[in-house]
Amino acid sequence: MRKDGNFILILDFGSQYTQLIARRIRKHHVYCEIHPYNMPISEIKQIKPAGIIFSGGPANIYNDESPNIDKEIFELHIPILGICYGMQLISFHMGGEIALTGSKEYGHALMEIVRESTLFNGLLDNEQVWMSHSNTVVVLPQNFHIIGKSKGYIAAIEHQDRPIYAVQFHPEVVHTIHGEKILNNFITNICHIKPEWYMDSFMNSCVEEVKDQVGDKTITLALSGGVDSTVLAMLLYKAIGNKLKCYFVDNGLLRKNEANDIENKYKEFLPAEFIRINAENTFLVRLKGVTDPEVKRKIIGQTFVEVFFKETANLDFLAQGTLYPDVIESVSVKGPSDTIKTHHNRVAEIQELINENKVIEPLKELFKDEVRELGRELGLPEDIINRHPFPGPGLAIRVLGEITKPQLEILREADAIFIETLKKEGVYEKIGQAFCVLIPMQTVGVMGDERTYEQIIALRAVDTIDYMTADWTKLPHEILSKTANRIINEVKGVNRVVYDISSKPPSTIEWE
Ligand code: XMP
Repeated sequence: MRKDGNFILILDFGSQYTQLIARRIRKHHVYCEIHPYNMPISEIKQIKPAGIIFSGGPANIYNDESPNIDKEIFELHIPILGICYGMQLISFHMGGEIALTGSKEYGHALMEIVRESTLFNGLLDNEQVWMSHSNTVVVLPQNFHIIGKSKGYIAAIEHQDRPIYAVQFHPEVVHTIHGEKILNNFITNICHIKPEWYMDSFMNSCVEEVKDQVGDKTITLALSGGVDSTVLAMLLYKAIGNKLKCYFVDNGLLRKNEANDIENKYKEFLPAEFIRINAENTFLVRLKGVTDPEVKRKIIGQTFVEVFFKETANLDFLAQGTLYPDVIESVSVKGPSDTIKTHHNRVAEIQELINENKVIEPLKELFKDEVRELGRELGLPEDIINRHPFPGPGLAIRVLGEITKPQLEILREADAIFIETLKKEGVYEKIGQAFCVLIPMQTVGVMGDERTYEQIIALRAVDTIDYMTADWTKLPHEILSKTANRIINEVKGVNRVVYDISSKPPSTIEWE
């Protein structure tokens, strides 16, 4: 939670790494917020950050439409750290020059520290850093020192007598070996922020806030069984006990035994009222014949809202598991951090409740890893905390093409085998997300003496921190082989299993 003078403001210039900066800072128990680069100076003055970070971004500073800042920001005497494009911005405004080389420097680089600086306290003389830029500062801005060089070029600078620092590389990316140390030097030794961002205190103040807001009324929550809504349920139960009503919608697009498992498991650790809505038919009828993924998403979203609000008419308060990445305003630069998502947190029915002040979103300041941490604080079982994310439209976007009950059944069986194997082999928790996709194409196979003509299952497993970029998991051949054998032998209708070795970008994690 924001406290005057004890948090970091991150101004976003469209970098794909902006959220990473925030997460690294919060790891040091310092609260921070991301705002668009054009946040008015008057607002910045009002919220009183202890330090400001300019993120990177894909733009070219000499372009008139490029995101820029009001120069007055330098007169606020708040410490500033510019990263990549942020460094070019600072240089541009302070009398430096940027060369538009056009050729990209991307990947590992070695930075030589050429001058002692608080920003680099505790670092080696030569540091491995991560670069991702095409333009370079070639003329040092006035009253600045060079503090780091890479291949003879300016890699880091600091103002001679004001707390303004800038680095061309990305300290927020893990490939910058001591990037965390650099960010910590900035927040601790330059901004002098006290670490006060701890999950236990967040939890306690949230509980008090919810109690105050709700009084003796009830809160209605749509529980999906995923980490976010479960942590939210636990938090709300801690605040208002039995006045919490959890609705679980079985849309018929869940994994094998998932609905029953969730219903049974929740009874073990969450004594709140649990109401199951069986709506499989409604969803499947509406999805009949639909093949376009975005249309599927729309139908599922609308049907969910309809089914849910039919059961919960005249509710007092609605709780939603909205997270921080859902509420960060993305900047207008069309950089790779622009995510395109259709989610139903803001449909008309919910907007109406928001207008009436009836929506509670206690997790909206948290990143996913912080939600997990909060879950641990609330005593949630580890197997729930470590569940892979599961998309709202469920298996509907993993059965490619038309969704039918038999197709869903095939996918369920295959997926259960894959996940069971990953858990047995002890690798499930190391993977960001894993699942099967059913490809509705028949290929030839042979079983016994007969030719078969059956469908294909694709296995997908990715390593990722933020789900915005992902690498395919290098699963041991042994595990792939065991999974494929079992699927082909045990799942009727499948005679071929393939492994997806595409990374995101340019692919996406899901296939639809
Ligand atoms: P993509 O496929 O975009 O997925 O690389 C990134 C993450 O988002 C999840 N995902 C969704 N989640 N509704 C959701 O609630 C959706 O329509 C949706 N599409 C993708 C995906 O599972 C992955 O975790």
